[in-house]
Amino acid sequence: MARPVLWLPRKVSDATVARARQSYEVILNEADTPGTAEQIVAMSAQVDAMMPCHSEHFTAQVVARLDPRLRIVANHSVGVDHCDLDALRARGIVVTNTPDVLSDATAELAMLLMLGAARRAVEGDRLVRTGAWDSWSPAFMVGKEVTGARLGIIGMGRVGRAFAAKARGFGMKIHYYNRTRLDPAEEQGATYHASVEGLLPVSDFLSLHCPATPETRDVMNADRLAMLPDGAVLVNTARGALVDEDALLDAIASGKLAAAGLDCFKTEPGGNPAFAAHENIFMLPHIGSATTKTRDAMGFRALDNLDAFFAGKAPRDAL
Ligand code: DGY
Repeated sequence: MARPVLWLPRKVSDATVARARQSYEVILNEADTPGTAEQIVAMSAQVDAMMPCHSEHFTAQVVARLDPRLRIVANHSVGVDHCDLDALRARGIVVTNTPDVLSDATAELAMLLMLGAARRAVEGDRLVRTGAWDSWSPAFMVGKEVTGARLGIIGMGRVGRAFAAKARGFGMKIHYYNRTRLDPAEEQGATYHASVEGLLPVSDFLSLHCPATPETRDVMNADRLAMLPDGAVLVNTARGALVDEDALLDAIASGKLAAAGLDCFKTEPGGNPAFAAHENIFMLPHIGSATTKTRDAMGFRALDNLDAFFAGKAPRDAL
């Protein structure tokens, strides 16, 4: 029987490609450019499966034009806000994602952003790097201490819990909002808030770990940012859609927020050029899951889903 044909629109890890080649006829995109709507539609007539990233957008319009040959979209990502799931399901196309395997890497990056924002990493690095560091005093580069502070988490899923576990190592007091309260064993002493509004006033640091959905779009808007304690720090490693960027700029400019650490932006790639004027915004280019170990694990998890599907079984991460 002919082997299924699989399109990898982006450059995934070598180990992933090597394993994929054992079971599939693999078509690579050597240019590693985001798959456009036209490419996705054109490729759907040539392949049985795709392994896209969050950079390939399966909008309702794109999905309506897909060739019936395409049977499964095995995402190389946990987030699936780039996919119109209803439209894909209506076409009978199976969709999977890669939960679990990137939780620690993303939580590590959230920790880096929280610490870097709190301790003025951008400003300090610039001073030393440019040779502008010409004095020192006890009043120099004073930041905000993480140890013992209150950490608010919106979205206590796998990544939120992994971040909470790391933050406990800093003696942080964990508070969280989630659609449903966790079991006490999973809470590990964290304080549950039944509303975002209840969580914000106790969040010296606030970290976002919920998916981007119509309900969570701009969850951190001007009104909600105003509910944070003065001098709070906002961290976002989830999705840019969660933050009203104009409101965040106002909160940074007014001093309401001491700092922000951002790995995600409304516009990606590129980010928000207006943020660059503020050294208390520590920014990274959507690299939460970008470690060698995690990239292999994401590719392998996507392949596990494909293997199950083509073996006639339900993929573990079918959505
Ligand atoms: C994810 O898996 O959703 C990450 O944001 C990388 O795409």
